[in-house]
Amino acid sequence: MGKTWSPTSWQGFPAAQQPDWPDQADLDRALKQITSYPPLVFAGEARRLTTSLGHVAAGNAFLLQAGDCAESFEEFSAVDIREKLRVILQMAVVLTYSLGVPVVKVGRIAGQFAKPRSSPFEQVGDLMLPSFRGHIVNDATATQAARTPNPDRLVQAYHQSASTLNLLRAFTKGGFADLHRVHQWTQEFVTSSPEGERYEQLAEEIDRALRFMRACGVNTESTSTLHEVDVYTSHEALLLGYEQALTRQDSLTGSWYDCSAHMLWIGERTRQLDGAHVEFLRGVGNPIGCKVGPEASPEFVLEICEALNPNRIPGRLTLISRMGANKVEDSLRPLLRAARDAGHPIVWACDPMHGNTFTSQGGRKTRHFDDVCAEIAGFIRAHHAEQTWPGGIHVELTGNNVTECLGGADEILDEHLGDRYETVCDPRLNGRQSLDLAFRVAELMRAAGVA
Ligand code: TRP
Ligand code: MN
Repeated sequence: MGKTWSPTSWQGFPAAQQPDWPDQADLDRALKQITSYPPLVFAGEARRLTTSLGHVAAGNAFLLQAGDCAESFEEFSAVDIREKLRVILQMAVVLTYSLGVPVVKVGRIAGQFAKPRSSPFEQVGDLMLPSFRGHIVNDATATQAARTPNPDRLVQAYHQSASTLNLLRAFTKGGFADLHRVHQWTQEFVTSSPEGERYEQLAEEIDRALRFMRACGVNTESTSTLHEVDVYTSHEALLLGYEQALTRQDSLTGSWYDCSAHMLWIGERTRQLDGAHVEFLRGVGNPIGCKVGPEASPEFVLEICEALNPNRIPGRLTLISRMGANKVEDSLRPLLRAARDAGHPIVWACDPMHGNTFTSQGGRKTRHFDDVCAEIAGFIRAHHAEQTWPGGIHVELTGNNVTECLGGADEILDEHLGDRYETVCDPRLNGRQSLDLAFRVAELMRAAGVA
C-alpha cells in the first residue's frame, strides 16, 4: 500500500468486480457529470456518525443497519421509502426500549445499487450474457441490450439517491419519526399478528413513559430528540469511479470524505488488502465497514484494522461478520480475541443473512427466518464468551409484504415464495419478519445478560 493517498490512488491497484463498460469516453462523461454535482451528504454528518459508532464500539450503544439488498430503479416511490423507514423505526424503538441504550440507525438506502457477482457472465438458454450488477450498471432482463452496462445509469442512481435522501430527511425531521406517533407506525397486517400485538403493548408503555415525563414537568413538545431521529445512509462502495466522483475535500478540516453516503462498506469479495477498494476507503474520513466471512483469519482482521483504522479512532471501523448460523460461534471467537487483545476499537455487527442463503426446492434464492435468528444467537454467544460487545445487526429487509424469506410468524413456506417474490437481488425479510426479529434480538441480548 502506497504512503500517499488521493481520490485517484486506487487506480494503481487491482479493482475487483468492476463492470465492463463498453465505451470509456461514455463512462468518463457520466463520471465527470457526477463530479460536478453537489455532494449527497455533508462531512460533519459523517463525523457525527463516527462519534455515535464510537459509543457502539465502547459497548454503550447498538447499531441497526438495514435496508434492501439492492435498491431498484422501479421500486422507487414515496410509499416504498416510507415503509422501509417505518420498519426501521419500529425495530429501533423495540431495541431502544428493550436494550436501554441508544440505537444508531443506518439504512442500506439512498445509494445501495451495485452488486458484486460470482461470475461476470450468465448463461441464459443459449445466450451468454453479462451478469446483472444492479440498476446502477444494467438491467436484469435477459437480453444483450438490457445487460450491457450503461453509464447513464450512474447518473440516474445519483438522482435517485438524492431524492431518496431528501424524503428521508423530511420524514425523520418533519414529524413522521415523532415518538408520540409510535402507534401510527403500525400497519394493519402487523396489528393483527402476534408480534404486532407485542409491538402495540410496547407502544402503550412508551406512551405511558411520555405521560410520566410530562407529569414530572418535562415539556415533551419542546424536546426535539423525542420528535426527530438521525437515520444515516450507507452502501457497499463497489464502483470506485462513482465513489471517487463524489469524494470531496471538507472545507472545515481539509480531509477527504466520500459524500455519496455517510457510511461505506467493503464487501467480502473486494476486501483484498492490496486491492483498490481498501486503498480507496483507507483515505476517506467516513465511518467504514468491512464484511468478514468464515475464511477471514485473525491475521487478516489485524491487518485490515491497521489498514483502515491505523489511528484507532473509535467508530471509524465496523466489522460485519457473515459466517453462517452453524459456523459463527467457532469462526468469530478467534477474530474477536485478536482485535480485543490488540486493543482495536471495533464495532462488531452481525449480518445474519448472507451466510444463510440457499436455493429453495422451487429454485428461488431464499433464507430461513430461524437460521437468521440462530446466527444472531451464535454471534451474541461468541461475544459473551470473549467479553466483547455484540454491537449490532446488519439486515436486508423491506417494508413491503413480500414472500422472499421462509418462516417467521406467518410461516412462509416454499410454495409461498412465488406469491410476492419482488427482490432484484437477495431475499429480504418482510415487515412482520423484521419486527419479529427486533423482538428476538432484544430477548437474545437479555438472555445472554448483555442488556
Ligand atoms: N431521537 C431519539 C432516538 O433516535 C428518540 C426517538 C425519536 C426515536 N423518534 C424515534 C427512537 C423513533 C427510535 C425510533 O433514539
Ligand atoms: Mn445481499
